[in-house]
Amino acid sequence: MDSRQLFDQFGRRITYLRMSVTDRCNFRCTYCMPAGGLRELGRYELLTLEELARLGRVFVEEGIGKIRLTGGEPLLRHDLHILVRDLSRLPGLRELCLTTNGHLLAEQAEILARAGLMRVNVSLDSLDPEKFKRITRGGDLRRVLQGLNAARAVIPGPVKINVVASRGFNDDEVLDFARLTLDPGYHVRFIEPMPMSPHASWERGEVLSVIAIQRQIEETYGLEPVAGNFSLAGPASRFRIPGAAGELGFIGAVTDEFCARCNRIRLTPDGKLRGCLMADGEIDFLRPMRSGVSDEGLREMLYQAMRVKPERHYINEFYFIRPLRTMSQIGG
Ligand code: 5AD
Ligand code: SF4
Repeated sequence: MDSRQLFDQFGRRITYLRMSVTDRCNFRCTYCMPAGGLRELGRYELLTLEELARLGRVFVEEGIGKIRLTGGEPLLRHDLHILVRDLSRLPGLRELCLTTNGHLLAEQAEILARAGLMRVNVSLDSLDPEKFKRITRGGDLRRVLQGLNAARAVIPGPVKINVVASRGFNDDEVLDFARLTLDPGYHVRFIEPMPMSPHASWERGEVLSVIAIQRQIEETYGLEPVAGNFSLAGPASRFRIPGAAGELGFIGAVTDEFCARCNRIRLTPDGKLRGCLMADGEIDFLRPMRSGVSDEGLREMLYQAMRVKPERHYINEFYFIRPLRTMSQIGG
């Protein structure tokens, strides 16, 4: 097996690629987009499934061990299972995951599982149908719950729920979400809302710190750290209610400086490799690939990305400027 490793200029080992397969979405979450949506990429501006599979192969040969497919809503991409199948056959890939809003998951969970998908994360910000409809501007909670059930039945790894926690919106649901780790044993992650492009709504006052959420759960149920917590495995700090099958994770995107343990890069749906959600530096892979670049050329571009990945985000500095693109355009 290939034993290459990728390091950025700050000595962080980069092992995780988040690959966005589309900027389209069937929801319009308020913290992600304006009510009318955004201009969408044209068909030829998107990487093809073959191009995505090729990049996956080259990156895995260079030391990427985990790929997550994202969007936009990745299940809107036709024949996504073909990409899943191709990636799942890469010998160096240890984890192949998907992040989805869940709306189309009930229909697709089985074909994706058969193609080799190992884990699914579902974004779900409220367990109240009306609130859910409001935050997603039209989403149907029932369908997402059906998607979760389908995933639980057929996807091998534990199903994870991502909750973007906002003061005044879902702070009253923290314990309801936490209970899902007891029954039916989902993993639940609370994420602080991040300021994306100016098209997305964000106010510092809405950020409910994950420390406050953690404290609230701890006071009610108690919490114990999960083995591997604070490892190099990523930004979440991980806990469990004693006896629970599912874990709780806390991602303090705004209040916690986890950048030192960042292990990820992102491929945007239009084929740009991006070192940080919060920084607009991107390296274009689409045009070189359509001009016949060799695998060696792709490797060089990946190394270049390692040299320009920023050290950290500047959300809390007074000169912070929001990224030009929003989550759906970059890849969640
Ligand atoms: N802040 C935090 N999380 C966000 N997501 C989308 N936009 C934001 C934001 N501004 C989340 C989605 C999904 C994941 C891909 O990113 O809810 O869980
Ligand atoms: Fe769609 Fe995700 Fe953006 Fe919501 S946050 S509009 S589900 S891309």
